[in-house]
Amino acid sequence: MLPRRAGRGPRRTSERDRLQSGMLDLARKHAPAVAEQLGYAIVEFRCGVIQDLALDLDALEVELSETLVSDPVNYSTLQHAEERLRRDCPLVPNDSVDCVLSNCVLNLVRGQDRRQLFAEIFRVLRFAGRAAEQRCLDACQPSTSLMLSASQMIA
Ligand SMILES: C[S@@+](CC[C@H](N)C(=O)[O-])C[C@H]1O[C@@H](n2cnc3c(N)ncnc32)[C@H](O)[C@@H]1O
Repeated sequence: MLPRRAGRGPRRTSERDRLQSGMLDLARKHAPAVAEQLGYAIVEFRCGVIQDLALDLDALEVELSETLVSDPVNYSTLQHAEERLRRDCPLVPNDSVDCVLSNCVLNLVRGQDRRQLFAEIFRVLRFAGRAAEQRCLDACQPSTSLMLSASQMIA
């Protein structure tokens, strides 16, 4: 999920941003009812971007609500807060995941962020873990540019 933001100060929010935030809120709201029906709770919804799985955006939201970033000094403070969160309480720790599954998300990451994306996937996967990606609109077609990025990283 993409970042949500609460707290002080005006922010231009697109309809798409609001919808995405709504999706996460909705998923979290209904998780207990789904778990009750299943008889077990094994799903947790966390908020971050896939090319930076160390940064917990819920935790960052708390930092942002306390720091109005309007000048370079506060920007620097925010960057330090991000580094602290990544280091001390990563959203997804190293070697902690068996499978990274993406349904039309990896392909949305910008070309210049792909190296970081694959490095993050590699960081969080356990030994022999797997990553799989599917695209929603043309599920029969492999994501050519993404496959190319992955093969270039591996090469
Ligand atoms: C096409 S939707 C797919 C949603 C979901 N996987 C599904 O199958 O219904 C793409 C989603 O990816 C999210 N997204 C886009 N870029 C992202 C990124 N860099 N990291 C995490 N999520 C991202 C968007 O907010 C959106 O919710």
